[in-house]
Amino acid sequence: MKRKVIVIGIGAGNPDYVTVQAINALNQVSVFFIPNKGTGKAALARLRREICERYIRGREYRMVDFDTPDRKKPSSDYSQGIEAWRDEVEQVYERLLIEELGDDEEGAFLVWGDPSIYDGTLRILDKIRSRGNFELEYDVIPGISSVQALAARHKVALNRIGESIMITTGRKLADGFPNNVDSVTVMLDAQNAFKSVDGEIDIHWGAYVGTDDEILVTGKLREVCDEIERLRNAAREKHGWIMDSYILTKPEAFGEE
Ligand SMILES: C[S@@+](CC[C@H](N)C(=O)[O-])C[C@H]1O[C@@H](n2cnc3c(N)ncnc32)[C@H](O)[C@@H]1O
Repeated sequence: MKRKVIVIGIGAGNPDYVTVQAINALNQVSVFFIPNKGTGKAALARLRREICERYIRGREYRMVDFDTPDRKKPSSDYSQGIEAWRDEVEQVYERLLIEELGDDEEGAFLVWGDPSIYDGTLRILDKIRSRGNFELEYDVIPGISSVQALAARHKVALNRIGESIMITTGRKLADGFPNNVDSVTVMLDAQNAFKSVDGEIDIHWGAYVGTDDEILVTGKLREVCDEIERLRNAAREKHGWIMDSYILTKPEAFGEE
């Protein structure tokens, strides 16, 4: 038995972010697997469908919705719990590929943003392939990540000249501003970790970037952090979910290149 899938990065919220390469890939797929999971799942599922309707021309395809198991709450044997959960998720994907896709068909996972940034699809497919229960071939089409979309909307670069780029999570930032960079991009911040950062810092924040609901705020962190918290709460209340990220930057020393 052989299965073939394409992992397609669809950009982070604006159907115009879909690349020509992604459109070509969409037009060779017969089955789209749509996960019922995560933040704003109804809105994200809607966007995936909209993308298919807008860009696929003159061919039949089907959508297969699937549920993934809920992530277990941290417990005393945390890593064991995570392992068991990952195992369950892999089994769901494996079953989908076996039961919902034919030998002569191509399937696709439409990944929000880019598949290389905080997304589990490639890791799951790699695990399934290495289990060897069937032959699995897959390709990856890159997408415009929310990181690029955020930087573009704020018209800023992520790095200083010749310096590293760091992308991290709100959970990591809560341990403090990383000490080996001057600029850090933060995703997946559920608890306003930016509030715990002291010092002279600039923030470029964006929620629902690229969509009609986009909100952008720029300023000195200590001056705008309460406003961002207020906007976040109000937006979460209004939409029932929020996707936001931000770039924190230490101001450049005078004369630095
Ligand atoms: C699970 S990660 C997926 C990232 C995705 N693979 C990418 O390339 O953007 C989800 C996080 O991405 C960020 N994010 C995704 N879409 C966003 C958007 N349209 N505006 C702002 N942040 C976004 C948020 O920090 C969110 O918590």
